[in-house]
Amino acid sequence: MCVFVTGGAGFIGGNFVLDWLAQSDELVVNIDKLTYAGNLQTLASLQGDDRHVFVQADIADFERIAELLRTHQPRALINFAAESHVDRSIHGPGEFIQTNVVGTFNLLEACRGYWSELPAAQRAGFRFLHVSTDEVYGSLTADAPAFTEGHRYEPNSPYSASKAASDHLVRAWHHTYGLPVLTTHCSNNYGPYHFPEKLIPLVILRALAGEALPIYGDGQQVRDWLYVKDHCSAIRRVLEQGQVGETYNVGGWNEKSNLEVVHTLCDLLDEQRPRADGRSYREQIRFVQDRPGHDRRYAIDASRLERELGWRPQETFASGLQQTVTWYLHNTAWIEGVTSGSYRQWLAQQY
Ligand code: NAD
Ligand code: TYD
Repeated sequence: MCVFVTGGAGFIGGNFVLDWLAQSDELVVNIDKLTYAGNLQTLASLQGDDRHVFVQADIADFERIAELLRTHQPRALINFAAESHVDRSIHGPGEFIQTNVVGTFNLLEACRGYWSELPAAQRAGFRFLHVSTDEVYGSLTADAPAFTEGHRYEPNSPYSASKAASDHLVRAWHHTYGLPVLTTHCSNNYGPYHFPEKLIPLVILRALAGEALPIYGDGQQVRDWLYVKDHCSAIRRVLEQGQVGETYNVGGWNEKSNLEVVHTLCDLLDEQRPRADGRSYREQIRFVQDRPGHDRRYAIDASRLERELGWRPQETFASGLQQTVTWYLHNTAWIEGVTSGSYRQWLAQQY
């Protein structure tokens, strides 16, 4: 038995592969293009472990994916591979269309060809799990109810529009061809191995470096945060027990404004790694120009996943954030690796 994971050198995919192999001996074939966001150092503990096969490939390369499917005969494919950063999608949307839309289309077509030739029992058991986002639902007003699975699609950024397009393709491949698909919509993740272009790792590392902590606009935008390992457990649950063709929202019931998040991070750092001058990291906060089209609020109603599949997150925001700060303080080799190369150029362009 084996599963395919695409994008398994990224933040969530990497955590998923590590988690999977901590709990199971089932082989993982990890397919990742290794863009700026792919980092094999995340998977360093798996070196020499023959339960993990890493393949550098583009999900948009149909022939390569089809050949890998024929060779390894997976029982499932979990698609994490994507361009994932909203700010980058504003500067250069082309890659987002190529990977998130064309790439997902290619994966679906390759899987359809492979799946349609499987013997009946394996055909019935095969799953294509597509990892999507709450951002496809658009932005909520302050008092609106959280997104349910029935919320209409209202994507506002090139990133969320490209993810929305990929979701529609996944849905259509099920309705038209019968491909056994599952889709999850998760809220903002945080935790170990998060690339420091995203708010939480960016703030931790810039704080420690004595740099300004940039808050877009008034900092009152709200995100619903989930610890990455809880997202991984939700995906495993949906993979094993989800109803084919259905979509499941995944969230942590943790709505926080960006300013609250940054304040909490500063407070944790004040405790765990006080500044040499004894002052608070909060002094480094700077309000900067807002992101164009910035969504005001996301909130996920994950009650379906709890009601139907019995999943609940294990971490609170306080416990998850505490572990995350501790992780960033103790994993300097990983951090040095990512802070070299293209990440630096991106920071210079953005700030
Ligand atoms: P990430 O940017 O950290 O990782 C993406 C990975 O995909 C990288 O390893 C990259 O090299 C790889 N990749 C990119 N293009 C590829 C291609 N054409 N072929 C093969 N591999 C390619 O992203 P992430 O934060 O880990 O997100 C993973 C998935 O989860 C994405 O689909 C994203 O939309 C979704 N998601 C993310 C969040 C979040 O908060 N980060 C929340 C909900 C859903
Ligand atoms: P981000 O981590 O980019 O995730 P997303 O845009 O997918 O929600 O951003 C989280 C929130 O933090 C978002 O409202 C934008 C804001 N933000 C800042 O205020 N400053 C920053 O430097 C970054 C990267 C994000």
